[in-house]
Amino acid sequence: MMDSCSLLASAKINLYLEIIGDRPDGYHELVMVMQSIALADLVELKAIGMDAFRVRCSHPLVPTDSSNLAYRAAQLMADEFPEAFSRWGGAEITIDKRIPVAAGLAGGSTNAAAVLVGLDLMWNLGLTLPQLQELGAKLGSDVPFCIGGGTALATGRGEKISPLSNLDRSYLVLGKFRSLQVSTPWAYKTFRQEFGHQYVSDAAGLEERRQRVHSGPMVSAILHHDDRQIGQRLYNDLERVVLPAYPQVAQLREVFRSAGGLGGMMSGSGPSVFALAESELEATKIRDAARSAIPDPDLDLWITQFTTTGIQVVSNK
Ligand code: C5P
Repeated sequence: MMDSCSLLASAKINLYLEIIGDRPDGYHELVMVMQSIALADLVELKAIGMDAFRVRCSHPLVPTDSSNLAYRAAQLMADEFPEAFSRWGGAEITIDKRIPVAAGLAGGSTNAAAVLVGLDLMWNLGLTLPQLQELGAKLGSDVPFCIGGGTALATGRGEKISPLSNLDRSYLVLGKFRSLQVSTPWAYKTFRQEFGHQYVSDAAGLEERRQRVHSGPMVSAILHHDDRQIGQRLYNDLERVVLPAYPQVAQLREVFRSAGGLGGMMSGSGPSVFALAESELEATKIRDAARSAIPDPDLDLWITQFTTTGIQVVSNK
């Protein structure tokens, strides 16, 4: 019996995010290119010899009750695999939060992904990646991607994943104002209010839009490992509603873009913004330029890299 399991849970950025239409389930049809980054939370699962789960996290904005997605992931596993749950029992889930919260970086989703992978190991279930992704899709649109990570095209609600060729460990600078949070439902709802009249609704139209991205310049740039082209082809529809409502985010994006580098963009529904860099040295220059242009102590800046891993098991015993 495995008593504990530690996992690194990578954050993601969106290199591309296009909203193409409404879905009958109330979500949006999306075409996205997702990229895992090395900025990661450490998630530890420990068997505690009781038939319940407990979440511990010292970050003030992370709930430790049943509203935490990691908790819901554990509950889902217990519901789906009642025999394993009654045999092995629950676990204490400790989250060492390094990914900024409500930032558009899938921090909550990647914690949930880590719990699915960790309990699969601890309970000796031997689930396949597609099985884990199917469970993940019940928890949130980004969870399936977070499990496998790397570089991938995501369609549907974002839960249908097709891996793309893994990119090299390119550097990026990530920025976020600590006190700023953007609600993802708000961003999508506002987008629908403003641009819903342009949505595509017929099946053929949706497929045509997916194909356009699939055989378009961003995916081609990724296949050719052309960092310069990737930087020029960054796109995120949600910027159209978030940037006007959050001038600080618009300013940070502008500073990143004028500081050199390969390109800058907001990730997901924001408010985090990233800038791609050609080298670690260039990333340092962009970070320093952002720091002097915006001397606000509320602005957090990180230098990180693309990674090919979503959830990585670091130890189990
Ligand atoms: O799937 P998840 O819970 O992460 O989504 C958070 C919110 O983002 C949803 O409640 C919805 O408002 C919005 N969303 C959407 N279309 C998607 C994904 C998310 O409208 N494909």
